[in-house]
Amino acid sequence: MASVSEILNKVELSKADVIRLLSITEASEQEALLKKAYSVKEKTIGRNVYLRGLIEFSNCCRKNCLYCGIRSGNAKVTRYTLTDKEILKVVEFAFNNRFTGIVLQSGEQNNPDFTKRIKGLITGIKEATNPEFRITLSLGEQSFDTYKAWFDAGAQRYLLRIETSNEELYKRIHPDNELHLFKARLQSLEDIQKIGYQTGTGVMIGLPFQTIEDLANDLWFIKQRNIDMVGMGPYLEHAGTPLFRYKDSLLPLTERLNLSLRMIAVLRILMPYINIASTTALQTIVPMGREQGLMAGANVIMPNLTPGKYRGYYLLYDNKPCIDEEADECLDCLANRIKMVGEEIMYNDYGDSRHYKNRKHAADQ
Ligand code: 5AD
Ligand code: SF4
Ligand code: FES
Repeated sequence: MASVSEILNKVELSKADVIRLLSITEASEQEALLKKAYSVKEKTIGRNVYLRGLIEFSNCCRKNCLYCGIRSGNAKVTRYTLTDKEILKVVEFAFNNRFTGIVLQSGEQNNPDFTKRIKGLITGIKEATNPEFRITLSLGEQSFDTYKAWFDAGAQRYLLRIETSNEELYKRIHPDNELHLFKARLQSLEDIQKIGYQTGTGVMIGLPFQTIEDLANDLWFIKQRNIDMVGMGPYLEHAGTPLFRYKDSLLPLTERLNLSLRMIAVLRILMPYINIASTTALQTIVPMGREQGLMAGANVIMPNLTPGKYRGYYLLYDNKPCIDEEADECLDCLANRIKMVGEEIMYNDYGDSRHYKNRKHAADQ
């Protein structure tokens, strides 16, 4: 079998190579992998980080995913929804703090009033900022027409994680009903891409029953589907969820963190020009987790701008960090941390996925 350093010198990686890299246990081999991924990032993106302000504007959700703390079946959650005015106030804060875009995220809500509300919000956000201001939506599965209406209103990017590309595993971590179909998730992802959004997806790493082959297939899925942006992070248990009962079968947290860093690194090598987010879930395991993600090849951070009084209610997993902080405190803290690892925040740059631009350019030829 090829050694890690031989694999890292290859021009193209095979599935077996990816499996070998994801299976690394030696610290020196992990270091070599991360170093290689960082050198790819330096060449394509530079030592730069793009910020997107995250607004978790509602934790109401019609779904009941077996891993998620705000699933509809969790009666212990206090449900909240920000008013348009509150959301626009956060947008204003982001704009004044040189953010070039925001991410609107909520639990999945799927009705005509919601569609209309989001459409109005998109228009309002553009009015409060400028037409170029980037709006990313992370609002789950919707109809083609809804996605299209939001795109036409001015949203440019959409995030919809596939969670796992293994249909069998998908079934094991979701209720067995019409609301949680793998095929519907795939269809949504295709619709989003077809409409013209910069398309983001991602997976959870270290799920119960998940194998290294599954994770290698996830990376293949992302590459084959020409995805522009990826957000992936460790699966973290939440005591109020059905999957919690498998907690003793999971990888230890530090191994889940290292596996997540290897996933980021291999993805950066496979797709040098995409945007990869370093997720909050990494920061949950160690305080500098997101910065470690940057050093493994990620180039996007989504600082949480949700007003402090709501933060404690958007808990997808246990021990979420920064739930007692306000947006300005987190921003100061983050700027210091990014400087500490020798990276620079790119203000005044929309930070569109270069992969998306290349893809568009090729299609226009
Ligand atoms: N651990 C890690 N990530 C989670 N998500 C939901 N629940 C968990 C959990 N317990 C992720 C899912 C979802 C995103 C919004 O949050 O991938 O798509
Ligand atoms: Fe709802 Fe998303 Fe949580 Fe599933 S993961 S229950 S869709 S918020
Ligand atoms: Fe939130 Fe440091 S990133 S307080």
